[in-house]
Amino acid sequence: MFGCVPFIFQNGRPSVEVVIVSDAKAGGELIAEAMAELLRHKPDALLGVATGSTPLPIYQALAAKVDSGAVDASRARVAQLDEYVGLPAEHPESYRSVLRREVLEPLGLDVDAFIGPDGTAEDVRAACEAYDKALAEAGGVDLQLLGIGTDGHIGFNEPCSSLASRTRIKTLTEQTRVDNARFFEGDIEQVPHHVITQGIGTILEARHLVLLATGEGKADAVAATVEGPIAAVCPASALQLHPHATVVVDEAAASKLKLADYFRHTYANKPDWQGI
Ligand code: GLP
Repeated sequence: MFGCVPFIFQNGRPSVEVVIVSDAKAGGELIAEAMAELLRHKPDALLGVATGSTPLPIYQALAAKVDSGAVDASRARVAQLDEYVGLPAEHPESYRSVLRREVLEPLGLDVDAFIGPDGTAEDVRAACEAYDKALAEAGGVDLQLLGIGTDGHIGFNEPCSSLASRTRIKTLTEQTRVDNARFFEGDIEQVPHHVITQGIGTILEARHLVLLATGEGKADAVAATVEGPIAAVCPASALQLHPHATVVVDEAAASKLKLADYFRHTYANKPDWQGI
């Protein structure tokens, strides 16, 4: 089984570091501490944030650190990963609204600290190009949080998205619309068909990628991401191309990993100063 281990090393670390934690709260705490450490060194860091249920423990843990004075996030900047097309910005389920509620307000940041694509633009293509440009002008994302779809999507890059893609419009799969209907009163008809998402090539430009996955429903996607081939059919497998990618999983999401014991061993023996 360990015959493949030499292939997953890069610069002295596995190309994707997998950290197995006991539960979602522990994952949230670990990642929030990495974000806090980044902000201590770079107070105006650009934090790439994701939506969905999975990252909520990260945002809660980071807000608690801000409240306790463990970190000052007052100069932090926040960049959006993806957005529904056609939902007005003030719609409670537009990702702009979700991120205002879940990230900006708890961290005490105002909208000036935020950049995101315009999901209501008449010229969607121009809005996508403008967003890639805005990210570059902001100096690039320092740490990009990611969740993962049950089909391996990151952002809204559905299976078979180009691994070199830039921010663009995408059509959601039926499965993703079913998964996301819970945010729209369980009514799939209310879930938009189209979205703007940072492309995989755009996401790979962030300096550190941190993906959190929790629950058994993500176990197949996690195994394909870190132990499968780099393939567009599993968009998250593009993390293997990044020099600093961290995948944090709870026991359930780790349950299909063949190298789980190896991942536990490397993390347990990692020097403390290295962080994630
Ligand atoms: C949506 C978002 C993704 C997120 C995914 C999983 O599709 N665009 O960024 O990773 O949902 O969401 P959850 O964490 O709720 O399972």
